[in-house]
Amino acid sequence: MKILRHPDAVREEVMQWRCHGQQVGFVPTMGYWHAGHVSLLDAARQRCSKVVASIFVNPTQFGPNEDLERYPRNLENDLALAQAHGVDLVFCPQAQDMYTPDHDTWVEVPHLSQGLCGASRPGHFRGVATVVTKLFWIVQPHVAFFGEKDWQQLAVIRAMVRHLSCPVEIVGCPTVREPDGLAMSSRNVYLTAEERAQAPALFAMLQNLRQRVAGGERNVDALKGAGLRYLAEHLPLGRLDYLEIVHPDTLVPRTQVEPPTLAAVALFLGKARLIDNLCIG
Ligand code: PAJ
Repeated sequence: MKILRHPDAVREEVMQWRCHGQQVGFVPTMGYWHAGHVSLLDAARQRCSKVVASIFVNPTQFGPNEDLERYPRNLENDLALAQAHGVDLVFCPQAQDMYTPDHDTWVEVPHLSQGLCGASRPGHFRGVATVVTKLFWIVQPHVAFFGEKDWQQLAVIRAMVRHLSCPVEIVGCPTVREPDGLAMSSRNVYLTAEERAQAPALFAMLQNLRQRVAGGERNVDALKGAGLRYLAEHLPLGRLDYLEIVHPDTLVPRTQVEPPTLAAVALFLGKARLIDNLCIG
């Protein structure tokens, strides 16, 4: 397994592979890997003959009051996981090699970025779309793998690739959960024991909405009301950011539940902000 820090070195290595007809899979990450990240590596390993993973805590996707400085890091553990899961190349660039001091070019997908997480994290998806574009130019993969846990991010990346005629196939992978249903996230380490005990109620609420839809409920306001009551009862330590019921591709709010419909939620819990989503109809 190669560990490369500089973009030019990665480009050179992948160029060689591509000349030899290899199919290159890519998993972009910010590190502090858990089973969710590992599931993307495994999907890439299964599908592609070469697997590249990147580890880069991208400063441009963090807001001024967000957790850039204290974002959890554990490179040693990530590299051990990469090795164990057959990754061929880990790219861990330094910020100064990704962004020149005069950096002033941005990739934006404004409509898909404005609602849901974009509303409380202005500029976040611009930072994501820009760094993923840069990573695609550096790594030049055939296929890239993203988690459905970050549904809006996946929608933004899919649109960005379509709009820019980017020659990369985007594969979405299912959310990996703790046994109690909590979606795995690097930020779960911020939770205290008490917060962690309440956190599974976020997914339980989404499942509850799905059950209501299965039972015939189609009214979005009724479903949202039920969701809010569920959270107030089972997750009193949380502060809701949003609960939305949307079309899964356009992210436009639904007035009535009809297939396909996605419920998406974000909630502040102590020092963490948890997100989750579920197809409910
Ligand atoms: P990060 O949060 O490290 O996530 C890297 C990838 O892992 C993303 O595609 C994310 O959706 C996926 N992932 C995270 N938790 C998951 C889970 N529980 N189940 C399945 N997949 C999961 O997302 C980012 O980094 C950054 O925004 C990035 C795309 C790397 C750009 O900087």
